[in-house]
Amino acid sequence: MTIDLQEEPLCASVEARKAEVLIEALPWISRFYGKTVVVKYGGSAMEDPALRASVIEDLTLMAYLGIRLVVVHGGGKAISALMERLRLPVSFRDGLRVTDDAAMEAVSMALVGQVNQGLVGAMNAFGQVAVGVTGSDGCTLKGEPVSAELGRVGTVTSVNTHLISCLMDEGYVPVVAGVAMGADGQLNVNADLVASEVAGALEADKLVFMTDVDGIYLDYPACERLVSCLTTDEAARLAASGELTGGMLPKVEAATRAIEAGVGRVHVLNGTFPHALLLEVFTDRGVGTMFLPAGEGSQRDGASAPPEP
Ligand SMILES: Nc1ncnc2c1ncn2[C@@H]1O[C@H](COP(=O)(O)OP(=O)(O)O)[C@@H](O)[C@H]1O
Ligand SMILES: [Mg+2]
Repeated sequence: MTIDLQEEPLCASVEARKAEVLIEALPWISRFYGKTVVVKYGGSAMEDPALRASVIEDLTLMAYLGIRLVVVHGGGKAISALMERLRLPVSFRDGLRVTDDAAMEAVSMALVGQVNQGLVGAMNAFGQVAVGVTGSDGCTLKGEPVSAELGRVGTVTSVNTHLISCLMDEGYVPVVAGVAMGADGQLNVNADLVASEVAGALEADKLVFMTDVDGIYLDYPACERLVSCLTTDEAARLAASGELTGGMLPKVEAATRAIEAGVGRVHVLNGTFPHALLLEVFTDRGVGTMFLPAGEGSQRDGASAPPEP
């Protein structure tokens, strides 16, 4: 008979460090337990397989730690790729995709058929929590066209939270594609706007926009002056100044609407940084740009206490 000797004491082991990390996160875990967090998942973090896997881990962990989580996803690259394969013209105005009837078919195929179901499948490889939801499911999102010029691009006119709330009550994570029900068929709604409307309707505690830049820059594209915190009136001034272009315009508008609808905290952060979402939610590292209500003063939460969600 051989007797195995322990090679290193348990207190110095990697396992012990893991326990410490969990305990360090305990104040944040308890603060967020049962809270509603909406995550808009988009940008390059959706394309790169390693990053995608790390985002999916973060989302699944958040759900298992008791956060009432809703994921709203974009899919601009998949839509453009499909449109190119179908030889449909791709064009944008002020960050929004010009969407005629043929383009809308492609949006639905790529966003719902490919991206939504791909994300749901990937999340469920870790557990059994994700359920795909489009605007038509349970009449979750109704919309109307923005303008004749943009075709089937819609804005959200109402959110019915019944289905997504029922799913969350049962421990599921609704994964929402930005396709709304219009009076005469589907509408393509910018996913930032969907996330903001859903977060507002749920009175979410936190809304996080994951994108492919570190946050909002005052000098984009030089990217030397990153905004840590700004109020909605400062955001409006920034939008009017021409410092925000492309997809950042609807994002900032969506962030502002969410704050005005009473969402506790709204953040824009870089989803291409591994586990950025976990760092934001479960540590005191202020990553990215945080929005505050007008007149609240641009101060981040204190670093030592767990922040309000
Ligand atoms: N002031 C700014 N600060 C940061 N990014 C900006 C700014 N103005 C424009 N952008 C652009 O906005 C993009 C993010 O929006 P978008 O491309 O729609 O990404 P997403 O898929 O996350 O919605 C950035 O990649 C950047 O090119
Ligand atoms: Mg965008």
